Formats: sequence, C-alpha cells, structure tokens
Amino acid sequence: MKNYLRLLQYIKPYMRRLGVAVVCIILAAAANLYVPWIIKDMIDEVLAQRDMAMLNVISIGILVVFFFRGIFYYGQSYLVSFVGQRVIIDVRDVLFRKFQRMSLSYYDQRQTGQIMSYITNDVGALQSALVDNLIELVTESSILIGSLTMMVYLDWKLSILTLVTIPMVGQAMKIFGRKLKSSGTLIQERLSDITSLLQESISAVRVVKSFVREIYESQRFHDQNELNFQAAMKNVQLMSLLTPTVEFLAAMAVTVIVWFGGYEVVNGEITAGALVAFLTYSVNLANPVKRISRVYGNIQKAMAAADRVFGVMDLDEVIKDAPGAISLPLTNGHVTFDQVSFEYKKGIPALSQVTLEAKSGQMIAFVGPSGAGKSTIANLIPRFYDVTEGAIRIDGKDIREVTVNSLREQIGIVPQETMLFSTTVRENIRYGRLDATDEEITAAAKDANAHEFIMTLPQGYDTKIGERGMNLSGGQRQRIAIARAILKDPRILILDEATSALDTESEKIVQAALDRLMVGRTSFVIAHRLSTIFDADQIFVIESGQICEHGTHEELLAQGGLYSNLYHIQFSKTSI
Ligand SMILES: Nc1ncnc2c1ncn2[C@@H]1O[C@H](COP(=O)(O)OP(=O)(O)OP(=O)(O)O)[C@@H](O)[C@H]1O
Ligand SMILES: [Mg+2]
Repeated sequence: MKNYLRLLQYIKPYMRRLGVAVVCIILAAAANLYVPWIIKDMIDEVLAQRDMAMLNVISIGILVVFFFRGIFYYGQSYLVSFVGQRVIIDVRDVLFRKFQRMSLSYYDQRQTGQIMSYITNDVGALQSALVDNLIELVTESSILIGSLTMMVYLDWKLSILTLVTIPMVGQAMKIFGRKLKSSGTLIQERLSDITSLLQESISAVRVVKSFVREIYESQRFHDQNELNFQAAMKNVQLMSLLTPTVEFLAAMAVTVIVWFGGYEVVNGEITAGALVAFLTYSVNLANPVKRISRVYGNIQKAMAAADRVFGVMDLDEVIKDAPGAISLPLTNGHVTFDQVSFEYKKGIPALSQVTLEAKSGQMIAFVGPSGAGKSTIANLIPRFYDVTEGAIRIDGKDIREVTVNSLREQIGIVPQETMLFSTTVRENIRYGRLDATDEEITAAAKDANAHEFIMTLPQGYDTKIGERGMNLSGGQRQRIAIARAILKDPRILILDEATSALDTESEKIVQAALDRLMVGRTSFVIAHRLSTIFDADQIFVIESGQICEHGTHEELLAQGGLYSNLYHIQFSKTSI
C-alpha cells in the first residue's frame, strides 16, 4: 500500500491528462450501456407502435453514439498509454541513476541479469499494471455501476430478485468447481502412481525376470490401474451429477426472474422492451465481475514488482558523501595509508594493517602472489570500497571527508582489461574529459602511442568500435585507455597490471606510453613483470593482505626475501 502511494507520486505530474483519460473511459463505457436502451426503444416504440419517425431517430442515435464512442476510445487508450509510458520512463530513469550511484559492493553480490531484470521485467510489470489494469478497472466498474443503475431504474423489484438469486447460483458453481478440482487432483495423483510403477518395473526388468515375478508385477500394475479407473469414474460421476444440478439451479433462477418479469409485463407494470433491456443489462453484469477480480490479481502481481523496484531505490548506497563533505582541492598527490585494514566480507580480512606513504610524484609498486590484496589496495584509494579500519589520507585529508566526485576526478585508473564503449574511438578517448577538444584528443592519443594505429583504422578517429568486426587488440585497447587517462590529467595514477595481458612487443609500446603518463604524478603500479618496476621509488611486497617487504629494487634484492625469489624465478625463466 505504501508503495502504491509512492507510485502515485510518479503519476502526479500527469494528473490532468489522467483525469481526461478517466473521463474518456467512463464516457466510452457509458456508450456501451446505451445498447440495451436501443433494444428497449426498438421493441416498445418502433415494433409495438409501428413508429417510423422513431426508427429514424434510433438509427441516427446509434451512429452518433458510436461515433463519439470511437473518439472517447481513442482518447482513453492514447492518454492512458501516454501517462503509463511516461511514468515508467521516469521510474526507469530514477532506477538507473540509483544503480549508477550504488557502490561496487552491491554489484559484487549480485548477478548482472538480476539487476537488469529490475529495470526490464519489474518496471515492465508496473507499466502493464498502470496501463491495462487502469483502463480495465475503470471501464468494468463503470459498466458494473451503470448496468446496476439502469436495472434499478428500469425495475427495482426485479433488480432485488436478480441480485439475490444470481449470487446463489454463483455460489453453487463455486462449490462445484472446488469439488471437481479436488477430484481432478486425485486422478493426476493416480496417474503419476501408474507412471512411477511403470518406470520402476521396466528399469528393474532384470530383477523381475531373475525372480520370475512377471505375474506378480502384472497384478501390481492391474491394481494400480484399477485405482485410476475408480478415481476417473468418481470424477465423471461428479461431473454428470453436478453439471445438470447447477444448470437446473441456473434455470430456476432465470425462471424466477423471467416469470416475475413476465408477470409484471402482463400486469402492465413495465413494458416488454424494458424487460428485454433489463435482461440484457443483467447478462452484462457477469463480465465486469469476472474481469475486476482478474485485475485485482494483476494488481497484486504489480505490487510485488513495485516492492522490488522501490526496495532497490531505498537501498543504502554505502559509498556516499559524508554530511558537510568538502570538495578535495587540487592535490599534490601525497597519499598515506594509516594502519588500513579491509574486509570484503565480514570476518574475512583482505588487508590488514597496511601502512605506507607515497610522496608527491613518486612511483609506488606493488608485487606479490595472486590473491594477496594488490588490487584491493588500488580499490581503496578511489573509495570503491571504504576501509574497515584505519584511514587513507590525501594531502593529509581523510578521503571519507571529501566528496566522492572530487576525489575520483583526481585519480586516473588504467585497469588490466580495458572496457571500451561501442562508439567511436574519439568518443572513447573523450570519456576521460567530456569537454576536451578534438586537438586535445589527438595530442593525448599521440602521447599514448595510439595515434599511428588509429590513423590506420578505416575511419580514423571516427571508427566505431565493436561494429562489423572492428575489434582492437589488447595493446591497442590499452593505449586508448592510456589516452583517456592522459586526457583526464589526474594527480594520482593507478595502473593495475596494465601490461600483463600483452606480448613483449606491444608491452614495450604501452610501457613507453605509461612511463610518459607517470611523469609528475603519484603512481601506484601493480605489476607481474618486475622489469616494469625496477625504477619504482618504493616497492611493496604484499602477501596475504599484509606488507611483508618494502624498499627499492636494489634494497629488496639485497634482503634476499620474497622479492628476490620472485626476481630470480622470473629472470631465470626469461633467460631459458
Ligand atoms: N569483490 C570482492 N568481493 C569479495 N572478495 C574479494 C573481492 N575482490 C577480491 N576479493 C578477495 O580479496 C583477496 C585479495 O584480492 P585482490 O584482488 O586484491 O588480489 P590481487 O593481489 O590483486 O590478486 P591478482 O594478482 O590475482 O590480481 C582475495 O582473496 C580475493 O578473493
Ligand atoms: Mg589484482
């Protein structure tokens, strides 16, 4: 119910259109109510009195009524659909914005398909609830109320009689239906007993034969078969008995109504036409009752969808600006980790007590075995996740005290796998800074060693990626990602194994571009190939979420620990 009111809030801006639509629906339904009235006039005036003028009036009346009904019908379906579509588009937009703001931990716990289904299926269900059910609900209730009113107007005594007898027959039919259903279930159960017995004795045919139990099995099957017969007969008996009973009941009800109506006509209390019109209206009642109960079911379903949609809208975004957060001023890129611990899942530490200091413009490298926590460190700097303990500071400011946007604006990330959008090369680079000019884009591409290969593409910078097999190699994608980062011109740079998927040749080209990119920025580099980090200002060796060694390349080699082991493994490999 609460969510229903919330949905109404989305409808609010379109209230005037919706009002007109409802009026159209009611008028179109009213036109339907006119039909029995035509019959009445036809019988009472035209047929009984041979009134030619009245026949003309009725004929013109039919045309006029159905002409206007057409107009109202157009108005109702156009306007209701308009409002429905509009509301759904608004809800979808709001939901999409919400998903954009949700933090990564939300996406970690869910499958893409599940999230997409909120926007496609659930929002779709809301739409059909709004459009189809609204039209049906208003139409059918207008017909219901209209027919009842007309009936009472035509003959109130007969109305009362009808409203008492018809529900009685309806009730009898309901009981009958329930009985039939349960005997139907019994037949199904017996049938499945037969099937499982069949399956068992066929698959166990060797056992049956080896024990010479063919006759025994046949008897078992026969008994089961017999049970099925009994269940089926019981159903048939019910059907054969109950169908005529209910029909007889219905006939009794109709007889009562028709007899009383006829009696009134004979007595001159109502006209013959009025009786026929009355009966037509009473037949009209059946549909609205059926449809309104179906609409009720649909609304229940739509409300379940609304619960899910609004449930998502109410989720905590987790990573968001603290109250009173200030914008991070242009930083020098001085980054410190102060006893940082982090858990993706409660109780399972991914990082513990990591303390480090990256001075402005330094190159910091992380090495270590897979799953050690290197990417996790990189994820914490742009606040993809918040630290569980300790603090990360940039220029002395805790990153949780500045706005998320201002923090991320100053951090550039070149990941291992470059995600390119299915648009032109130019737009993909421009993603780094939306107001960049074409000249700046070209300059960034040149710095990223990407300009040359871009010029060999069919349409140069305007080549669409992902179209007609326009796929780029890993190294080419990586250089587009670097151009993006150059364009963004961040103070802090994160390279998470940016060259590890490349062959030696393209690695050299990409590495050259990266080296140029790192100049003058504080860079965090995660590398599998140690050759790329020999000149790092500090190297941190991470193992099981902890810093286990720390120093420059020479210092670490001299220590003879994990780093020097890794070094020797890699370099003896390459020399073979
Ligand atoms: N999104 C996540 N949700 C839960 N656990 C995660 C998540 N990402 C990583 N982990 C876990 O955290 C630990 C550290 O992972 P991390 O990705 O930081 O390792 P890594 O050092 O970057 O490894 P690799 O060299 O393979 O990239 C691993 O045990 C991993 O299973
Ligand atoms: Mg990693």
